[in-house]
Formats: sequence, structure tokens, C-alpha cells
Amino acid sequence: MDVALEFGLEDTTAVVTGGSRGIGRAISVGFAEAGANVVPLARDESTLETAVEAVRDRGVESRFEPVDVTDHAAVDGCVDRIADDLGVDVVVNNAGVNPDSALGRPGDVTDAGLRQVIDVNLEAAFACARAAEPALRASGGTLVNVASVGGLVGLPRQHPYVASKHGLVGLTRSLALDWAPAVRVNCLAPGYVATDLTADLRADEDLRASIEDRTPLDRFADPAEIAGPAVFLASDLASYVTGATLSVDGGWTAR
Ligand SMILES: NC(=O)c1ccc[n+]([C@@H]2O[C@H](COP(=O)([O-])OP(=O)(O)OC[C@H]3O[C@@H](n4cnc5c(N)ncnc54)[C@H](OP(=O)(O)O)[C@@H]3O)[C@@H](O)[C@H]2O)c1
Repeated sequence: MDVALEFGLEDTTAVVTGGSRGIGRAISVGFAEAGANVVPLARDESTLETAVEAVRDRGVESRFEPVDVTDHAAVDGCVDRIADDLGVDVVVNNAGVNPDSALGRPGDVTDAGLRQVIDVNLEAAFACARAAEPALRASGGTLVNVASVGGLVGLPRQHPYVASKHGLVGLTRSLALDWAPAVRVNCLAPGYVATDLTADLRADEDLRASIEDRTPLDRFADPAEIAGPAVFLASDLASYVTGATLSVDGGWTAR
């Protein structure tokens, strides 16, 4: 077998949910720099517009597709439009939330908080995968889910988030089995990354220091440090990798 050590992403198209900010924006730019067209998806139109521009600045195609990923019918329409227009070779299920209403002891968690976390982090990932399956099968594409260290180990006071991310790791494995050999399905498990999602943690000096002390690499990740592993898993360099979850956590889960 002739195996080329190249990404092989030129002239492909990647769809990145939650691609407007934070890790998703970094992943969108990372795919664009590897030569892929990228369509980032998110709700807020002005943030999304800047992400689309950042992708186009790398000389590849993009489309402006504002969407709430919990609206499954809207996701179906959006994925169909992208598939007809550009094709779909890569889907990155990255959109995720962890609102205050889902934090704390079980008694602190509201039904709305629980529902939002499961809707966005798990059900929407399933719905995007389902919507993209025909296009991914047609292109021989790949799916990358963005879970968390909370998909591999427990984290106190983040019960809905940990449950949703463990679910995403399980979904990665079951889809990988179902879709092989046509479509590879893998997962990333980032540790603590400097984005809006961790702004409150980083603003609290004691909490920030305790997270950094607990992390062998002694710092939060830059979002761009998650983009490289995402590009790798979607690329030809990972042609024999499916059903895997790659920790990108500065050593957090090595303890
Ligand atoms: N930051 C970390 O330390 C960390 C660690 C491990 C895993 N992760 C995971 O990495 C992923 C990205 O996290 P992040 O830190 O980059 O978060 P972030 O900065 O808060 O960005 C979240 C992204 O998701 C989008 N989004 C949220 N709800 C959505 C919805 N209903 N429909 C469409 N888009 C939606 C947001 O755009 P709109 O709000 O405009 O829709 C935004 O683009 C998440 O799955 C998170 O769980 C993060």
C-alpha cells in the first residue's frame, strides 16, 4: 500500500459546529491553512461573519450559515446545502456549552441547564452526524467529535457536562463501528483551554492556579493547540485511526 505522509485535505470541505469562537474558530482556521474549504456553524451572526472572513483570508471557500445546532431540521437543511454546493468531507462536532445552571451539586442543577447541555453537547452532535452521513459516505470522509477530559474521567460539580461528554466518547465508538470502513470517526478530549468557556475559571486566581498546578504542562492550552490534533485526525495521516479518543490535555489524564 502506498501511504503518503501528507494531510491530503486540499480541495476538501470541512463543516465545524461552534466554529465562530474559541476552539472551533481555531479548528476552522487550521483546516483552512491545511487547504480545506471550511464552513463554520454557530448562532451569533456577527461572530460567525468574522470566522468566515478568517477562513476566506486563507484563500479557500467558505459559506455563511448561521444555525442553532439544537434545531435538527435546520441542521439537515444546512448540511444538505453545503453538500450540494461544496461537498462534505469532514464534520467536526465542536459546539458545546456548560452553563452555570448545569454546575454544582445535583440539587443545584436546573432542568433547563441539564436539557441545554445534553441538547447541545450530545443530541446535536448525533443530529449533525446523522445529517452528514450520506455526504460523508459519498466522499469517504471523516467525523471528529470534540469531547473533553470530562468524557474520560469524572469532574466534580459538572455532572451534566461530564455525562454529555462521556456520551460523545461512546457515540464516537458506536459510529466508528457502524460506518467502517467507509467513514472514520474519532474524538478529541481537550483539557483546559483559554476560551470564553473557561473565562470565569481563569478570572478566579485560586481556581486558575489549582488547574495549572494539576496540569503537568502547567498551563491552559491555546485554542490553536487543539486545531492541530483535529486536522491530524481528519487527515490521511490518521488513515488507520477510527473509534479513538485522543487526549489533548497537557497530561491531565496521565495522573
Ligand atoms: N475550553 C475548554 O477548556 C474546553 C475543554 C474541553 C473541551 N471543550 C469543548 O470544546 C468545544 C468548544 O469549546 P470552547 O471553549 O471553544 O467554547 P466557546 O468559546 O464557548 O465557543 C462555543 C462555540 O459553540 C457555539 N455554540 C454554542 N451553542 C450553540 C448552538 N446551540 N448552536 C450552534 N452553535 C453553538 C458558539 O457560538 P454561538 O454562541 O454564536 O452559537 C461558539 O462558536 C466544546 O464542545 C467544549 O465542551 C472545551
